[in-house]
Amino acid sequence: MAPKVPSFGSQEYWNSRFTSNIDPFEWLEAPDALDLYITNVLRATGELKPELLHIGCGTSLLSYHIRAHVKDPNQIHNLDYSEVAIHLGKQREHELYPARCNGNGRSSANAPACMRWDTVDVLNHTSLLAACKPRAYAVIIEKSTSDAISCSEDVHIPLPYPIAIRSYTPIDMELRQSSEPIHPLYIMAVNLALVARPGARWIALSYSNDRFPFLNASSNTLLEDHLFPDPRVLWTLVKKREVEGAKSQPPEDGDSSSVTHRPRVLNWVYVLERTNVPLFVRGDNI
Ligand SMILES: C[S@@+](CC[C@H](N)C(=O)[O-])C[C@H]1O[C@@H](n2cnc3c(N)ncnc32)[C@H](O)[C@@H]1O
Repeated sequence: MAPKVPSFGSQEYWNSRFTSNIDPFEWLEAPDALDLYITNVLRATGELKPELLHIGCGTSLLSYHIRAHVKDPNQIHNLDYSEVAIHLGKQREHELYPARCNGNGRSSANAPACMRWDTVDVLNHTSLLAACKPRAYAVIIEKSTSDAISCSEDVHIPLPYPIAIRSYTPIDMELRQSSEPIHPLYIMAVNLALVARPGARWIALSYSNDRFPFLNASSNTLLEDHLFPDPRVLWTLVKKREVEGAKSQPPEDGDSSSVTHRPRVLNWVYVLERTNVPLFVRGDNI
Protein backbone atom coordinates (compact mmCIF):
# COMPACT_ATOMS: atom_id res chain seq x y z
CA MET A 1 0.00 0.00 0.00
CA ALA A 2 1.31 3.48 -0.89
CA PRO A 3 2.33 5.58 2.16
CA LYS A 4 -0.29 8.13 3.20
CA VAL A 5 0.70 11.65 2.18
CA PRO A 6 0.29 14.12 5.09
CA SER A 7 -2.38 16.79 4.60
CA PHE A 8 -0.07 19.81 4.38
CA GLY A 9 -3.02 21.97 3.35
CA SER A 10 -5.06 21.24 6.47
CA GLN A 11 -5.19 23.34 9.62
CA GLU A 12 -5.91 20.22 11.72
CA TYR A 13 -2.73 18.61 10.41
CA TRP A 14 -0.57 21.58 11.48
CA ASN A 15 -2.25 21.99 14.86
CA SER A 16 -1.80 18.33 15.70
CA ARG A 17 1.81 18.35 14.42
CA PHE A 18 2.74 21.41 16.53
CA THR A 19 0.92 19.94 19.56
CA SER A 20 2.78 16.63 19.38
CA ASN A 21 6.17 18.29 18.87
CA ILE A 22 6.64 21.70 20.43
CA ASP A 23 10.33 21.94 19.52
CA PRO A 24 11.43 24.33 16.78
CA PHE A 25 11.28 22.74 13.34
CA GLU A 26 12.75 24.17 10.13
CA TRP A 27 11.32 23.46 6.71
CA LEU A 28 13.75 23.39 3.75
CA GLU A 29 16.54 25.61 5.08
CA ALA A 30 18.06 27.10 8.23
CA PRO A 31 16.76 30.52 9.38
CA ASP A 32 19.78 32.34 7.92
CA ALA A 33 19.18 31.13 4.35
CA LEU A 34 17.27 34.30 3.43
CA ASP A 35 19.60 36.79 5.14
CA LEU A 36 21.06 38.29 1.98
CA TYR A 37 17.62 38.81 0.45
CA ILE A 38 16.15 40.28 3.63
CA THR A 39 19.07 42.69 4.07
CA ASN A 40 18.86 43.90 0.47
CA VAL A 41 15.11 44.30 0.51
CA LEU A 42 15.11 46.15 3.84
CA ARG A 43 17.84 48.50 2.63
CA ALA A 44 15.92 49.18 -0.59
CA THR A 45 12.84 50.34 1.33
CA GLY A 46 14.79 53.41 2.50
CA GLU A 47 12.54 53.42 5.59
CA LEU A 48 13.74 53.61 9.17
CA LYS A 49 11.25 51.07 10.45
CA PRO A 50 9.65 49.11 7.61
CA GLU A 51 7.05 46.55 8.64
CA LEU A 52 7.71 42.86 7.95
CA LEU A 53 5.01 40.24 7.62
CA HIS A 54 6.22 36.68 8.28
CA ILE A 55 3.51 34.33 7.07
CA GLY A 56 3.14 30.68 8.07
CA CYS A 57 5.82 31.08 10.75
CA GLY A 58 5.17 27.61 12.21
CA THR A 59 7.77 26.80 14.88
CA SER A 60 10.68 28.04 12.77
CA LEU A 61 13.38 30.07 14.49
CA LEU A 62 13.27 32.46 11.52
CA SER A 63 10.93 34.71 13.55
CA TYR A 64 13.66 35.30 16.17
CA HIS A 65 16.43 35.38 13.59
CA ILE A 66 14.87 38.31 11.71
CA ARG A 67 14.81 40.38 14.91
CA ALA A 68 18.51 41.01 14.19
CA HIS A 69 17.54 42.69 10.90
CA VAL A 70 15.27 45.36 12.40
CA LYS A 71 15.57 48.25 14.84
CA ASP A 72 12.40 47.39 16.75
CA PRO A 73 11.00 43.83 17.04
CA ASN A 74 7.52 45.35 16.86
CA GLN A 75 8.17 45.85 13.12
CA ILE A 76 7.83 42.04 12.75
CA HIS A 77 4.37 40.54 12.50
CA ASN A 78 4.25 36.72 12.64
CA LEU A 79 1.17 34.95 11.29
CA ASP A 80 0.04 31.36 11.16
CA TYR A 81 -3.39 29.77 11.00
CA SER A 82 -2.29 27.26 13.63
CA GLU A 83 -3.13 28.79 16.99
CA VAL A 84 -0.77 26.22 18.54
CA ALA A 85 2.17 27.60 16.51
CA ILE A 86 1.30 31.19 17.47
CA HIS A 87 0.99 30.28 21.16
CA LEU A 88 4.36 28.48 21.08
CA GLY A 89 5.91 31.40 19.20
CA LYS A 90 4.85 33.97 21.82
CA GLN A 91 5.94 31.67 24.63
CA ARG A 92 9.35 31.11 23.09
CA GLU A 93 9.85 34.84 22.59
CA HIS A 94 9.08 35.35 26.28
CA GLU A 95 11.64 32.65 27.20
CA LEU A 96 14.30 34.17 24.94
CA TYR A 97 13.63 37.81 25.92
CA PRO A 98 11.96 37.58 29.37
CA ALA A 99 12.61 41.19 30.33
CA ARG A 100 10.89 42.52 27.24
CA CYS A 101 7.91 40.34 26.35
CA ASN A 102 5.24 39.08 28.68
CA GLY A 103 4.47 35.82 26.89
CA ASN A 104 1.15 37.10 25.52
CA GLY A 105 2.88 38.69 22.57
CA ARG A 106 2.76 42.07 24.35
CA SER A 107 5.66 44.28 25.20
CA SER A 108 6.45 44.97 28.84
CA ALA A 109 5.67 48.53 29.87
CA ASN A 110 9.18 49.94 29.89
CA ALA A 111 10.61 47.91 27.05
CA PRO A 112 8.43 47.93 23.94
CA ALA A 113 10.51 45.31 22.18
CA CYS A 114 8.28 42.42 21.34
CA MET A 115 7.15 41.01 17.99
CA ARG A 116 3.50 40.85 16.99
CA TRP A 117 1.82 37.41 16.68
CA ASP A 118 -1.61 36.61 15.26
CA THR A 119 -3.59 33.54 14.30
CA VAL A 120 -4.61 34.33 10.74
CA ASP A 121 -5.70 32.28 7.75
CA VAL A 122 -4.07 34.07 4.82
CA LEU A 123 -6.64 32.51 2.48
CA ASN A 124 -9.39 34.36 4.29
CA HIS A 125 -9.29 38.12 3.67
CA THR A 126 -11.51 38.87 6.69
CA SER A 127 -9.17 36.95 8.98
CA LEU A 128 -6.17 38.75 7.44
CA LEU A 129 -7.71 42.22 7.74
CA ALA A 130 -8.65 41.61 11.36
CA ALA A 131 -4.92 41.54 12.17
CA CYS A 132 -3.21 43.50 9.39
CA LYS A 133 -3.65 47.00 8.05
CA PRO A 134 -4.04 47.46 4.30
CA ARG A 135 -0.94 48.75 2.46
CA ALA A 136 1.15 48.48 5.66
CA TYR A 137 3.93 46.01 4.94
CA ALA A 138 7.14 46.70 3.02
CA VAL A 139 8.36 43.10 3.21
CA ILE A 140 6.61 39.73 3.27
CA ILE A 141 8.69 36.69 4.21
CA GLU A 142 7.83 33.04 4.03
CA LYS A 143 9.66 29.75 4.23
CA SER A 144 7.69 26.98 2.51
CA THR A 145 4.29 28.45 3.37
CA SER A 146 3.33 28.73 -0.30
CA ASP A 147 4.36 25.08 -0.63
CA ALA A 148 1.94 24.05 2.13
CA ILE A 149 -0.81 26.26 0.76
CA SER A 150 -0.42 24.90 -2.73
CA CYS A 151 -1.32 21.49 -1.23
CA SER A 152 -4.73 22.86 -0.16
CA GLU A 153 -7.82 22.05 -2.17
CA ASP A 154 -9.11 24.74 -4.51
CA VAL A 155 -11.19 27.18 -2.49
CA HIS A 156 -14.82 27.78 -3.46
CA ILE A 157 -15.25 31.53 -3.15
CA PRO A 158 -18.36 33.52 -3.86
CA LEU A 159 -17.95 35.85 -6.82
CA PRO A 160 -17.40 38.69 -7.34
CA TYR A 161 -14.55 38.46 -4.86
CA PRO A 162 -14.75 41.15 -2.14
CA ILE A 163 -11.29 42.45 -3.10
CA ALA A 164 -11.28 44.28 -6.40
CA ILE A 165 -8.83 46.18 -8.58
CA ARG A 166 -11.28 48.98 -9.25
CA SER A 167 -13.66 50.48 -6.77
CA TYR A 168 -16.87 49.08 -8.21
CA THR A 169 -20.23 50.15 -6.92
CA PRO A 170 -20.81 48.37 -3.62
CA ILE A 171 -22.70 45.10 -4.03
CA ASP A 172 -24.81 43.23 -1.55
CA MET A 173 -22.46 40.38 -0.63
CA GLU A 174 -25.39 38.31 0.69
CA LEU A 175 -26.95 38.24 -2.77
CA ARG A 176 -23.93 36.88 -4.63
CA GLN A 177 -24.83 33.70 -6.49
CA SER A 178 -21.89 32.47 -8.48
CA SER A 179 -19.05 30.52 -6.90
CA GLU A 180 -15.87 29.18 -8.50
CA PRO A 181 -13.10 26.90 -7.29
CA ILE A 182 -9.93 29.03 -7.21
CA HIS A 183 -6.38 27.80 -6.67
CA PRO A 184 -5.34 28.76 -3.11
CA LEU A 185 -2.13 30.49 -4.26
CA TYR A 186 -4.17 32.93 -6.38
CA ILE A 187 -6.23 33.82 -3.34
CA MET A 188 -3.16 34.21 -1.18
CA ALA A 189 -1.50 36.46 -3.80
CA VAL A 190 -4.54 38.75 -3.95
CA ASN A 191 -5.04 38.86 -0.17
CA LEU A 192 -1.36 39.63 0.47
CA ALA A 193 -1.44 42.35 -2.21
CA LEU A 194 -4.06 44.11 -0.11
CA VAL A 195 -1.80 44.43 2.94
CA ALA A 196 1.44 45.05 1.01
CA ARG A 197 2.39 48.60 0.16
CA PRO A 198 3.26 49.55 -3.43
CA GLY A 199 6.81 48.38 -4.16
CA ALA A 200 6.74 45.86 -1.27
CA ARG A 201 8.82 42.73 -1.75
CA TRP A 202 7.60 39.19 -1.06
CA ILE A 203 10.50 36.82 -0.38
CA ALA A 204 9.46 33.17 -0.70
CA LEU A 205 11.58 30.08 -0.16
CA SER A 206 10.16 27.01 -1.89
CA TYR A 207 11.16 23.53 -2.96
CA SER A 208 9.37 24.07 -6.26
CA ASN A 209 11.07 25.61 -9.29
CA ASP A 210 7.66 26.70 -10.56
CA ARG A 211 5.90 27.96 -7.45
CA PHE A 212 4.16 30.96 -9.04
CA PRO A 213 3.28 29.84 -12.60
CA PHE A 214 0.30 32.19 -12.66
CA LEU A 215 2.67 35.17 -12.78
CA ASN A 216 3.93 34.19 -16.25
CA ALA A 217 2.84 36.70 -18.84
CA SER A 218 1.67 33.85 -21.08
CA SER A 219 -0.60 32.14 -18.56
CA ASN A 220 -4.33 32.46 -19.18
CA THR A 221 -6.36 34.98 -17.26
CA LEU A 222 -8.27 33.07 -14.63
CA LEU A 223 -11.51 35.03 -14.49
CA GLU A 224 -12.79 38.35 -15.72
CA ASP A 225 -11.19 41.06 -13.69
CA HIS A 226 -14.44 42.39 -12.23
CA LEU A 227 -14.94 38.90 -10.68
CA PHE A 228 -11.46 38.14 -9.36
CA PRO A 229 -8.29 40.26 -9.67
CA ASP A 230 -5.56 38.86 -11.90
CA PRO A 231 -2.52 38.37 -9.58
CA ARG A 232 -0.18 39.30 -12.49
CA VAL A 233 -1.44 42.85 -12.27
CA LEU A 234 -0.57 42.95 -8.57
CA TRP A 235 2.79 41.15 -8.40
CA THR A 236 5.82 40.88 -10.69
CA LEU A 237 8.60 38.36 -10.34
CA VAL A 238 11.89 40.23 -9.92
CA LYS A 239 14.21 37.40 -8.92
CA LYS A 240 14.36 33.63 -8.83
CA ARG A 241 17.50 31.92 -7.50
CA GLU A 242 18.59 28.41 -6.63
CA VAL A 243 19.60 27.71 -3.05
CA GLU A 244 21.56 24.60 -2.36
CA GLY A 245 20.04 22.69 0.52
CA ALA A 246 21.58 19.58 2.10
CA LYS A 247 25.36 19.55 1.98
CA SER A 248 27.86 16.72 2.32
CA GLN A 249 27.84 15.69 5.96
CA PRO A 250 31.03 14.80 7.82
CA PRO A 251 30.48 11.64 9.87
CA GLU A 252 29.87 12.09 13.59
CA ASP A 253 33.13 10.29 14.48
CA GLY A 254 35.04 13.02 12.62
CA ASP A 255 36.70 10.57 10.17
CA SER A 256 36.89 12.76 7.07
CA SER A 257 37.94 9.82 4.89
CA SER A 258 34.41 8.45 5.11
CA VAL A 259 32.44 11.59 4.35
CA THR A 260 28.90 10.60 3.49
CA HIS A 261 27.23 12.34 0.58
CA ARG A 262 23.58 13.17 0.58
CA PRO A 263 21.87 13.84 -2.74
CA ARG A 264 22.06 17.51 -3.78
CA VAL A 265 18.84 19.24 -2.82
CA LEU A 266 17.89 22.47 -4.54
CA ASN A 267 15.40 24.94 -3.20
CA TRP A 268 14.33 28.22 -4.73
CA VAL A 269 14.10 31.78 -3.53
CA TYR A 270 11.57 34.00 -5.28
CA VAL A 271 11.37 37.75 -4.86
CA LEU A 272 8.09 39.28 -6.01
CA GLU A 273 7.34 42.99 -6.11
CA ARG A 274 3.97 44.57 -5.43
CA THR A 275 2.92 46.81 -8.30
CA ASN A 276 1.27 50.21 -7.84
CA VAL A 277 -2.17 48.92 -8.85
CA PRO A 278 -4.51 49.77 -5.95
CA LEU A 279 -6.93 47.26 -4.48
CA PHE A 280 -10.23 47.97 -2.78
CA VAL A 281 -12.46 45.99 -0.48
CA ARG A 282 -15.89 46.32 -2.03
CA GLY A 283 -18.00 48.66 -0.06
CA ASP A 284 -15.04 49.95 2.00
CA ASN A 285 -12.97 53.02 1.40
CA ILE A 286 -9.59 51.82 2.59
C1 LIG B 1 5.77 23.93 5.61
S1 LIG B 1 5.34 24.76 7.09
C2 LIG B 1 6.58 26.01 7.19
C3 LIG B 1 6.75 26.53 8.59
C4 LIG B 1 7.90 27.53 8.75
N1 LIG B 1 7.75 28.65 7.86
C5 LIG B 1 9.26 26.87 8.54
O1 LIG B 1 10.02 27.30 7.68
O2 LIG B 1 9.56 25.93 9.27
C6 LIG B 1 3.90 25.68 6.55
C7 LIG B 1 3.31 26.59 7.59
O3 LIG B 1 2.27 27.34 6.98
C8 LIG B 1 1.15 27.39 7.84
N2 LIG B 1 -0.04 27.59 6.97
C9 LIG B 1 -0.52 26.74 6.03
N3 LIG B 1 -1.63 27.25 5.46
C10 LIG B 1 -1.85 28.46 6.04
C11 LIG B 1 -2.85 29.46 5.88
N4 LIG B 1 -3.87 29.32 5.01
N5 LIG B 1 -2.77 30.59 6.63
C12 LIG B 1 -1.75 30.75 7.52
N6 LIG B 1 -0.79 29.81 7.74
C13 LIG B 1 -0.83 28.69 6.99
C14 LIG B 1 1.17 26.06 8.57
O4 LIG B 1 0.44 26.09 9.78
C15 LIG B 1 2.68 25.87 8.78
O5 LIG B 1 3.10 26.49 9.96
